[in-house]
Amino acid sequence: MERSRTTTRAHNTAVVGMQWGDEGKGKIVDLIAGRYDAVVRYNGGANAGHSVVVDGQRFALHLIPSGILYPGKLAIIANGVVVDPDALLREIDALHERRIDTSGLVLSSRAHVVMPYHKQEDEAREALLVERAASTHNGSRAIGTTKRGIGPCYAEKAQRAGAVRVADLLRPDLLRERVSIALALRGRDEADADDIVESMTAAGRRLAPSIRDTTYLLHELVQNGKALLFEGGNATLLDVEHGTFPYVTSSLASSLGIAPGTGLPPRHLNELIGVMKAYCTRVGAGPMPTEIHSQEAAYIRERGREYGTTTGRPRRVGWLDLVALRYSVMVNGVTSLALTMIDVLAGLPEIRLCTAYRTPAGTTDRFIPDAHDLESVAPVFETIPGYEGDLTTVRTRADLPDGARTLIDRIEQFSGVPVRIMSVGPGREQTILE
Ligand code: IMP
Repeated sequence: MERSRTTTRAHNTAVVGMQWGDEGKGKIVDLIAGRYDAVVRYNGGANAGHSVVVDGQRFALHLIPSGILYPGKLAIIANGVVVDPDALLREIDALHERRIDTSGLVLSSRAHVVMPYHKQEDEAREALLVERAASTHNGSRAIGTTKRGIGPCYAEKAQRAGAVRVADLLRPDLLRERVSIALALRGRDEADADDIVESMTAAGRRLAPSIRDTTYLLHELVQNGKALLFEGGNATLLDVEHGTFPYVTSSLASSLGIAPGTGLPPRHLNELIGVMKAYCTRVGAGPMPTEIHSQEAAYIRERGREYGTTTGRPRRVGWLDLVALRYSVMVNGVTSLALTMIDVLAGLPEIRLCTAYRTPAGTTDRFIPDAHDLESVAPVFETIPGYEGDLTTVRTRADLPDGARTLIDRIEQFSGVPVRIMSVGPGREQTILE
Protein backbone atom coordinates (compact mmCIF):
# COMPACT_ATOMS: atom_id res chain seq x y z
CA MET A 1 0.00 0.00 0.00
CA GLU A 2 1.36 3.45 -0.92
CA ARG A 3 2.34 5.77 1.87
CA SER A 4 -0.41 8.38 2.03
CA ARG A 5 0.16 12.07 2.56
CA THR A 6 -1.53 11.76 5.94
CA THR A 7 1.70 10.46 7.41
CA THR A 8 4.52 11.76 5.27
CA ARG A 9 5.70 14.32 7.82
CA ALA A 10 4.36 12.86 11.01
CA HIS A 11 6.26 10.36 13.03
CA ASN A 12 3.89 9.43 15.77
CA THR A 13 0.26 8.83 15.03
CA ALA A 14 -2.75 7.82 17.09
CA VAL A 15 -5.81 6.01 15.83
CA VAL A 16 -8.82 6.65 18.06
CA GLY A 17 -12.53 5.79 17.83
CA MET A 18 -14.85 8.78 17.44
CA GLN A 19 -18.08 7.09 18.50
CA TRP A 20 -19.01 4.29 20.93
CA GLY A 21 -16.49 1.74 19.70
CA ASP A 22 -16.32 -0.76 16.88
CA GLU A 23 -15.59 1.93 14.29
CA GLY A 24 -13.04 -0.26 12.52
CA LYS A 25 -9.90 0.95 14.31
CA GLY A 26 -8.34 -2.49 13.95
CA LYS A 27 -8.52 -2.32 10.18
CA ILE A 28 -7.12 1.21 10.03
CA VAL A 29 -4.25 0.37 12.40
CA ASP A 30 -3.50 -2.75 10.42
CA LEU A 31 -3.59 -0.78 7.18
CA ILE A 32 -1.00 1.79 8.21
CA ALA A 33 1.01 -0.21 10.77
CA GLY A 34 3.61 -1.09 8.13
CA ARG A 35 4.94 2.48 8.30
CA TYR A 36 5.62 2.40 12.03
CA ASP A 37 8.21 0.69 14.19
CA ALA A 38 5.88 -0.02 17.07
CA VAL A 39 2.14 -0.20 17.70
CA VAL A 40 1.14 0.80 21.23
CA ARG A 41 -2.01 0.15 23.29
CA TYR A 42 -2.44 2.68 26.11
CA ASN A 43 -5.85 2.03 27.66
CA GLY A 44 -8.57 -0.51 28.32
CA GLY A 45 -8.12 -4.25 28.25
CA ALA A 46 -9.78 -7.32 26.84
CA ASN A 47 -13.05 -5.36 26.59
CA ALA A 48 -11.81 -3.96 23.29
CA GLY A 49 -12.24 -6.13 20.26
CA HIS A 50 -10.38 -5.50 17.06
CA SER A 51 -11.17 -7.58 14.06
CA VAL A 52 -8.82 -7.51 11.14
CA VAL A 53 -9.13 -9.41 7.89
CA VAL A 54 -5.85 -10.39 6.23
CA ASP A 55 -5.85 -12.59 3.12
CA GLY A 56 -9.47 -13.47 3.83
CA GLN A 57 -8.67 -14.65 7.39
CA ARG A 58 -10.43 -12.84 10.24
CA PHE A 59 -8.39 -12.18 13.39
CA ALA A 60 -10.09 -11.06 16.58
CA LEU A 61 -7.63 -9.33 18.87
CA HIS A 62 -8.57 -8.00 22.28
CA LEU A 63 -5.38 -7.08 24.11
CA ILE A 64 -2.57 -7.42 21.62
CA PRO A 65 -2.15 -4.41 19.31
CA SER A 66 -3.08 -5.28 15.73
CA GLY A 67 0.48 -4.40 14.69
CA ILE A 68 1.46 -7.90 15.80
CA LEU A 69 0.31 -9.12 12.39
CA TYR A 70 3.31 -7.36 10.86
CA PRO A 71 6.55 -9.28 11.32
CA GLY A 72 9.34 -7.26 12.90
CA LYS A 73 7.15 -4.64 14.59
CA LEU A 74 6.98 -4.10 18.30
CA ALA A 75 3.47 -4.53 19.72
CA ILE A 76 3.54 -2.72 23.04
CA ILE A 77 0.96 -3.03 25.80
CA ALA A 78 1.74 0.06 27.88
CA ASN A 79 1.09 0.87 31.53
CA GLY A 80 -2.43 2.27 31.06
CA VAL A 81 -3.82 -1.08 29.90
CA VAL A 82 -5.35 -3.61 32.31
CA VAL A 83 -4.15 -7.08 31.45
CA ASP A 84 -5.95 -10.37 31.97
CA PRO A 85 -3.02 -12.85 31.78
CA ASP A 86 -5.24 -15.78 30.74
CA ALA A 87 -6.87 -13.75 27.97
CA LEU A 88 -3.46 -12.54 26.81
CA LEU A 89 -1.98 -16.05 26.75
CA ARG A 90 -5.03 -17.37 24.87
CA GLU A 91 -4.51 -14.66 22.28
CA ILE A 92 -0.80 -15.46 22.00
CA ASP A 93 -1.59 -19.18 21.58
CA ALA A 94 -4.23 -18.46 18.91
CA LEU A 95 -1.70 -16.37 16.97
CA HIS A 96 0.92 -19.14 17.26
CA GLU A 97 -1.59 -21.65 15.90
CA ARG A 98 -1.81 -19.44 12.82
CA ARG A 99 1.98 -19.29 12.67
CA ILE A 100 2.12 -15.61 13.58
CA ASP A 101 5.32 -14.59 15.34
CA THR A 102 4.63 -12.87 18.66
CA SER A 103 8.24 -12.13 19.63
CA GLY A 104 7.58 -8.40 19.11
CA LEU A 105 5.10 -8.33 22.00
CA VAL A 106 6.14 -6.12 24.93
CA LEU A 107 4.14 -5.90 28.13
CA SER A 108 4.53 -3.08 30.64
CA SER A 109 5.68 -4.21 34.07
CA ARG A 110 3.42 -1.47 35.44
CA ALA A 111 0.20 -2.45 33.69
CA HIS A 112 -2.39 -3.61 36.20
CA VAL A 113 -3.58 -7.20 36.23
CA VAL A 114 -7.21 -8.22 35.92
CA MET A 115 -7.71 -10.85 38.63
CA PRO A 116 -10.39 -13.58 38.70
CA TYR A 117 -12.28 -11.70 41.42
CA HIS A 118 -12.46 -8.59 39.21
CA LYS A 119 -14.36 -10.56 36.59
CA GLN A 120 -16.64 -12.08 39.26
CA GLU A 121 -17.33 -8.61 40.65
CA ASP A 122 -18.05 -7.16 37.23
CA GLU A 123 -20.67 -9.92 36.70
CA ALA A 124 -22.14 -9.54 40.19
CA ARG A 125 -22.42 -5.74 40.01
CA GLU A 126 -24.10 -5.91 36.63
CA ALA A 127 -26.51 -8.63 37.84
CA LEU A 128 -27.40 -6.51 40.86
CA LEU A 129 -28.07 -3.44 38.73
CA VAL A 130 -30.27 -5.45 36.34
CA GLU A 131 -32.23 -6.87 39.25
CA ARG A 132 -32.57 -3.47 40.88
CA ALA A 133 -33.74 -1.87 37.65
CA ALA A 134 -36.39 -4.60 37.25
CA SER A 135 -37.68 -4.24 40.82
CA THR A 136 -37.53 -0.49 41.37
CA HIS A 137 -38.28 1.05 37.93
CA ASN A 138 -36.34 4.04 39.19
CA GLY A 139 -34.10 4.34 36.22
CA SER A 140 -31.04 2.69 37.74
CA ARG A 141 -29.64 0.58 34.98
CA ALA A 142 -26.80 -1.77 34.40
CA ILE A 143 -23.92 -0.35 32.37
CA GLY A 144 -23.97 -3.40 30.12
CA THR A 145 -20.26 -4.00 30.59
CA THR A 146 -18.31 -6.65 28.73
CA LYS A 147 -17.84 -8.43 32.11
CA ARG A 148 -14.12 -8.65 31.51
CA GLY A 149 -13.34 -7.22 34.96
CA ILE A 150 -12.17 -3.92 33.53
CA GLY A 151 -14.00 -1.56 35.92
CA PRO A 152 -13.11 -3.47 39.11
CA CYS A 153 -9.45 -3.68 38.02
CA TYR A 154 -9.19 0.09 37.43
CA ALA A 155 -11.01 0.63 40.74
CA GLU A 156 -8.46 -1.57 42.52
CA LYS A 157 -5.69 0.47 40.89
CA ALA A 158 -7.20 3.65 42.34
CA GLN A 159 -7.64 1.93 45.73
CA ARG A 160 -3.98 0.74 45.60
CA ALA A 161 -3.52 -1.61 48.58
CA GLY A 162 -4.60 -4.87 46.92
CA ALA A 163 -3.72 -3.97 43.34
CA VAL A 164 -1.52 -6.31 41.33
CA ARG A 165 0.76 -5.09 38.56
CA VAL A 166 2.39 -7.20 35.87
CA ALA A 167 5.78 -7.02 37.66
CA ASP A 168 4.15 -8.72 40.66
CA LEU A 169 3.50 -11.82 38.58
CA LEU A 170 7.27 -12.39 38.77
CA ARG A 171 7.44 -11.81 42.56
CA PRO A 172 5.39 -14.61 44.19
CA ASP A 173 5.80 -13.38 47.77
CA LEU A 174 4.70 -9.87 47.01
CA LEU A 175 1.92 -11.23 44.80
CA ARG A 176 0.63 -13.43 47.65
CA GLU A 177 0.62 -10.44 50.00
CA ARG A 178 -1.31 -8.30 47.54
CA VAL A 179 -3.83 -10.99 46.68
CA SER A 180 -4.34 -11.70 50.40
CA ILE A 181 -5.04 -8.01 50.99
CA ALA A 182 -7.43 -7.92 48.04
CA LEU A 183 -9.29 -10.97 49.36
CA ALA A 184 -9.35 -9.63 52.93
CA LEU A 185 -10.75 -6.32 51.69
CA ARG A 186 -13.53 -8.33 50.07
CA GLY A 187 -14.23 -10.28 53.24
CA ARG A 188 -13.00 -13.43 51.57
CA ASP A 189 -10.89 -16.25 52.97
CA GLU A 190 -7.21 -15.41 52.45
CA ALA A 191 -6.52 -19.12 51.94
CA ASP A 192 -8.15 -18.69 48.51
CA ALA A 193 -5.01 -16.78 47.57
CA ASP A 194 -3.02 -19.99 46.99
CA ASP A 195 -4.74 -21.09 43.78
CA ILE A 196 -4.84 -17.58 42.42
CA VAL A 197 -1.14 -16.99 43.14
CA GLU A 198 -0.23 -20.30 41.57
CA SER A 199 -2.07 -19.68 38.31
CA MET A 200 -0.89 -16.06 38.14
CA THR A 201 2.78 -16.94 38.70
CA ALA A 202 2.49 -19.65 36.04
CA ALA A 203 1.15 -17.02 33.63
CA GLY A 204 3.95 -14.68 34.75
CA ARG A 205 6.59 -17.29 33.89
CA ARG A 206 5.21 -17.56 30.35
CA LEU A 207 4.92 -13.81 29.90
CA ALA A 208 8.30 -12.99 31.53
CA PRO A 209 10.28 -12.57 28.30
CA SER A 210 7.85 -9.84 27.17
CA ILE A 211 7.75 -7.85 30.42
CA ARG A 212 9.63 -4.51 30.45
CA ASP A 213 9.49 -0.92 31.57
CA THR A 214 7.63 0.40 28.54
CA THR A 215 7.96 4.08 29.52
CA TYR A 216 11.75 4.00 29.08
CA LEU A 217 11.38 1.81 26.01
CA LEU A 218 8.99 4.31 24.38
CA HIS A 219 11.25 7.26 25.18
CA GLU A 220 14.23 5.38 23.73
CA LEU A 221 12.26 4.65 20.57
CA VAL A 222 11.32 8.33 20.23
CA GLN A 223 14.93 9.44 20.81
CA ASN A 224 16.11 7.02 18.14
CA GLY A 225 13.66 8.52 15.65
CA LYS A 226 11.38 5.49 15.54
CA ALA A 227 7.79 5.98 14.49
CA LEU A 228 5.06 5.03 16.93
CA LEU A 229 1.43 4.22 16.26
CA PHE A 230 -0.93 4.47 19.23
CA GLU A 231 -4.01 2.30 19.05
CA GLY A 232 -6.91 3.47 21.19
CA GLY A 233 -9.05 0.80 22.82
CA ASN A 234 -12.83 1.39 23.15
CA ALA A 235 -13.67 4.93 21.96
CA THR A 236 -14.07 8.62 22.78
CA LEU A 237 -17.75 8.55 23.76
CA LEU A 238 -16.88 5.71 26.18
CA ASP A 239 -14.04 7.71 27.79
CA VAL A 240 -14.49 7.84 31.56
CA GLU A 241 -13.83 11.60 31.64
CA HIS A 242 -15.31 12.80 28.35
CA GLY A 243 -17.86 10.16 27.36
CA THR A 244 -21.51 9.65 28.20
CA PHE A 245 -20.89 9.04 31.90
CA PRO A 246 -21.81 6.75 33.63
CA TYR A 247 -22.38 4.61 30.53
CA VAL A 248 -18.72 4.53 29.68
CA THR A 249 -15.72 2.30 30.22
CA SER A 250 -13.27 2.91 33.08
CA SER A 251 -10.28 4.28 31.18
CA LEU A 252 -9.22 7.34 29.22
CA ALA A 253 -10.21 5.96 25.84
CA SER A 254 -9.75 9.20 23.89
CA SER A 255 -6.34 10.40 22.74
CA LEU A 256 -6.11 12.22 26.08
CA GLY A 257 -5.27 8.85 27.63
CA ILE A 258 -2.05 8.47 25.66
CA ALA A 259 0.21 10.50 27.97
CA PRO A 260 -0.87 8.88 31.25
CA GLY A 261 -1.19 5.47 29.63
CA THR A 262 2.34 5.46 28.21
CA GLY A 263 4.49 8.00 30.05
CA LEU A 264 5.10 9.94 26.83
CA PRO A 265 4.20 13.64 26.92
CA PRO A 266 1.59 14.82 24.38
CA ARG A 267 4.09 16.85 22.33
CA HIS A 268 5.38 13.63 20.77
CA LEU A 269 2.10 13.07 18.98
CA ASN A 270 2.08 14.53 15.46
CA GLU A 271 -1.01 13.11 13.86
CA LEU A 272 -4.38 11.98 15.08
CA ILE A 273 -6.64 9.85 12.94
CA GLY A 274 -10.23 9.67 14.14
CA VAL A 275 -12.01 6.52 13.01
CA MET A 276 -15.75 6.72 12.48
CA LYS A 277 -18.47 4.68 10.86
CA ALA A 278 -20.93 6.07 8.33
CA TYR A 279 -23.58 5.48 11.01
CA CYS A 280 -23.52 4.92 14.78
CA THR A 281 -23.55 1.78 16.87
CA ARG A 282 -23.44 1.16 20.58
CA VAL A 283 -23.15 -1.99 22.69
CA GLY A 284 -24.49 -1.94 26.21
CA ALA A 285 -26.63 0.71 27.84
CA GLY A 286 -26.54 4.49 27.59
CA PRO A 287 -27.93 7.24 25.41
CA MET A 288 -27.51 7.27 21.63
CA PRO A 289 -29.67 10.14 20.36
CA THR A 290 -29.87 8.90 16.77
CA GLU A 291 -30.79 5.29 17.60
CA ILE A 292 -33.27 3.62 15.23
CA HIS A 293 -35.32 0.45 15.59
CA SER A 294 -36.77 0.42 12.08
CA GLN A 295 -36.13 -1.97 9.20
CA GLU A 296 -33.22 0.25 8.29
CA ALA A 297 -31.58 -0.65 11.62
CA ALA A 298 -31.91 -4.36 10.86
CA TYR A 299 -30.57 -3.76 7.33
CA ILE A 300 -27.51 -1.92 8.63
CA ARG A 301 -26.92 -4.45 11.44
CA GLU A 302 -26.91 -7.40 9.05
CA ARG A 303 -24.86 -5.78 6.31
CA GLY A 304 -22.39 -4.34 8.79
CA ARG A 305 -22.18 -7.54 10.85
CA GLU A 306 -22.94 -5.42 13.87
CA TYR A 307 -22.49 -8.03 16.57
CA GLY A 308 -19.92 -7.53 19.35
CA THR A 309 -16.40 -8.87 18.71
CA THR A 310 -15.93 -9.41 22.44
CA THR A 311 -19.39 -10.48 23.58
CA GLY A 312 -21.32 -11.37 20.40
CA ARG A 313 -24.15 -9.02 21.47
CA PRO A 314 -26.19 -7.41 18.66
CA ARG A 315 -25.14 -3.77 18.49
CA ARG A 316 -27.67 -0.94 18.73
CA VAL A 317 -27.77 1.03 15.47
CA GLY A 318 -28.39 4.71 14.72
CA TRP A 319 -27.86 7.35 12.05
CA LEU A 320 -24.61 9.28 11.95
CA ASP A 321 -24.48 11.85 14.73
CA LEU A 322 -22.46 14.80 13.43
CA VAL A 323 -22.86 16.67 16.73
CA ALA A 324 -21.15 13.85 18.60
CA LEU A 325 -18.54 13.54 15.85
CA ARG A 326 -17.58 17.21 16.02
CA TYR A 327 -17.22 16.91 19.80
CA SER A 328 -14.94 13.89 19.43
CA VAL A 329 -12.85 15.68 16.80
CA MET A 330 -12.47 18.61 19.20
CA VAL A 331 -11.64 16.62 22.33
CA ASN A 332 -9.08 14.39 20.63
CA GLY A 333 -7.40 17.01 18.45
CA VAL A 334 -8.16 14.98 15.34
CA THR A 335 -6.16 15.90 12.25
CA SER A 336 -7.94 13.63 9.76
CA LEU A 337 -10.75 11.12 9.69
CA ALA A 338 -11.02 7.55 8.52
CA LEU A 339 -14.58 6.76 7.46
CA THR A 340 -15.51 3.09 7.53
CA MET A 341 -18.53 0.98 6.51
CA ILE A 342 -19.43 3.26 3.59
CA ASP A 343 -20.45 0.14 1.63
CA VAL A 344 -22.89 -0.94 4.36
CA LEU A 345 -25.30 1.96 3.73
CA ALA A 346 -25.60 1.18 0.00
CA GLY A 347 -29.18 0.27 -0.89
CA LEU A 348 -30.88 2.67 1.53
CA PRO A 349 -33.10 5.17 -0.33
CA GLU A 350 -32.01 8.02 1.92
CA ILE A 351 -29.52 8.66 4.70
CA ARG A 352 -30.05 10.82 7.76
CA LEU A 353 -27.46 12.93 9.52
CA CYS A 354 -28.00 14.48 12.94
CA THR A 355 -26.87 18.12 12.90
CA ALA A 356 -28.29 19.41 16.21
CA TYR A 357 -30.15 18.32 19.34
CA ARG A 358 -33.46 19.65 20.52
CA THR A 359 -33.25 19.94 24.31
CA PRO A 360 -35.75 21.19 26.90
CA ALA A 361 -33.67 24.41 26.94
CA GLY A 362 -33.66 24.89 23.15
CA THR A 363 -31.76 23.61 20.13
CA THR A 364 -28.03 23.12 20.41
CA ASP A 365 -25.21 21.91 18.20
CA ARG A 366 -23.10 20.99 21.22
CA PHE A 367 -22.69 17.42 22.43
CA ILE A 368 -23.80 16.68 26.00
CA PRO A 369 -21.38 14.25 27.67
CA ASP A 370 -23.76 13.34 30.47
CA ALA A 371 -26.10 10.39 30.13
CA HIS A 372 -29.00 11.92 32.02
CA ASP A 373 -29.13 15.10 29.96
CA LEU A 374 -28.31 13.40 26.66
CA GLU A 375 -31.21 11.01 27.16
CA SER A 376 -33.71 13.86 26.94
CA VAL A 377 -32.55 15.30 23.59
CA ALA A 378 -34.27 14.75 20.24
CA PRO A 379 -32.08 14.65 17.15
CA VAL A 380 -32.50 17.22 14.38
CA PHE A 381 -31.87 15.40 11.13
CA GLU A 382 -30.95 16.46 7.65
CA THR A 383 -31.60 13.95 4.89
CA ILE A 384 -29.33 13.22 1.95
CA PRO A 385 -30.01 10.87 -0.95
CA GLY A 386 -28.89 7.28 -0.52
CA TYR A 387 -26.70 5.32 -2.93
CA GLU A 388 -26.64 1.88 -4.43
CA GLY A 389 -24.35 -0.75 -5.78
CA ASP A 390 -21.36 -2.78 -4.72
CA LEU A 391 -18.81 -0.28 -3.43
CA THR A 392 -16.26 -2.84 -2.32
CA THR A 393 -14.28 -2.57 -5.55
CA VAL A 394 -14.18 1.25 -5.65
CA ARG A 395 -10.65 2.62 -5.11
CA THR A 396 -10.99 6.41 -5.61
CA ARG A 397 -13.29 8.98 -4.05
CA ALA A 398 -14.31 10.17 -7.53
CA ASP A 399 -15.62 6.69 -8.37
CA LEU A 400 -17.92 6.58 -5.35
CA PRO A 401 -21.62 7.12 -6.08
CA ASP A 402 -22.96 10.69 -5.65
CA GLY A 403 -24.72 9.93 -2.36
CA ALA A 404 -21.56 8.55 -0.77
CA ARG A 405 -19.56 11.60 -1.89
CA THR A 406 -22.23 13.90 -0.46
CA LEU A 407 -22.01 12.01 2.82
CA ILE A 408 -18.23 12.47 2.96
CA ASP A 409 -18.49 16.17 2.01
CA ARG A 410 -20.99 16.78 4.82
CA ILE A 411 -18.75 15.01 7.32
CA GLU A 412 -15.80 17.19 6.30
CA GLN A 413 -17.84 20.41 6.35
CA PHE A 414 -19.39 19.70 9.72
CA SER A 415 -16.29 18.36 11.49
CA GLY A 416 -13.80 20.75 9.92
CA VAL A 417 -11.26 17.98 9.21
CA PRO A 418 -10.58 16.01 6.03
CA VAL A 419 -11.64 12.43 5.47
CA ARG A 420 -8.46 10.83 4.13
CA ILE A 421 -9.15 7.15 4.54
CA MET A 422 -12.39 5.65 3.22
CA SER A 423 -13.15 2.02 3.86
CA VAL A 424 -15.52 0.17 1.54
CA GLY A 425 -15.12 -3.35 2.92
CA PRO A 426 -13.30 -5.31 5.61
CA GLY A 427 -10.22 -6.28 3.57
CA ARG A 428 -6.97 -4.31 3.59
CA GLU A 429 -7.32 -3.59 -0.12
CA GLN A 430 -10.94 -2.41 0.13
CA THR A 431 -9.80 1.08 1.00
CA ILE A 432 -9.50 4.51 -0.60
CA LEU A 433 -6.46 6.47 0.59
CA GLU A 434 -5.89 10.15 -0.06
P1 IMP B 1 -16.56 -2.27 30.18
O1 IMP B 1 -15.50 -1.56 29.43
O2 IMP B 1 -16.52 -3.77 30.00
O3 IMP B 1 -16.64 -1.87 31.61
O4 IMP B 1 -17.95 -1.81 29.54
C1 IMP B 1 -18.44 -0.49 29.69
C2 IMP B 1 -19.23 -0.07 28.45
O5 IMP B 1 -18.34 0.14 27.37
C3 IMP B 1 -20.24 -1.09 27.95
O6 IMP B 1 -21.34 -0.40 27.38
C4 IMP B 1 -19.48 -1.84 26.87
O7 IMP B 1 -20.35 -2.44 25.95
C5 IMP B 1 -18.71 -0.69 26.27
N1 IMP B 1 -17.47 -1.09 25.61
C6 IMP B 1 -16.28 -1.32 26.20
N2 IMP B 1 -15.36 -1.57 25.26
C7 IMP B 1 -15.95 -1.49 24.08
C8 IMP B 1 -15.49 -1.62 22.72
O8 IMP B 1 -14.31 -1.84 22.44
N3 IMP B 1 -16.45 -1.49 21.76
C9 IMP B 1 -17.73 -1.19 22.04
N4 IMP B 1 -18.20 -1.05 23.27
C10 IMP B 1 -17.30 -1.18 24.29
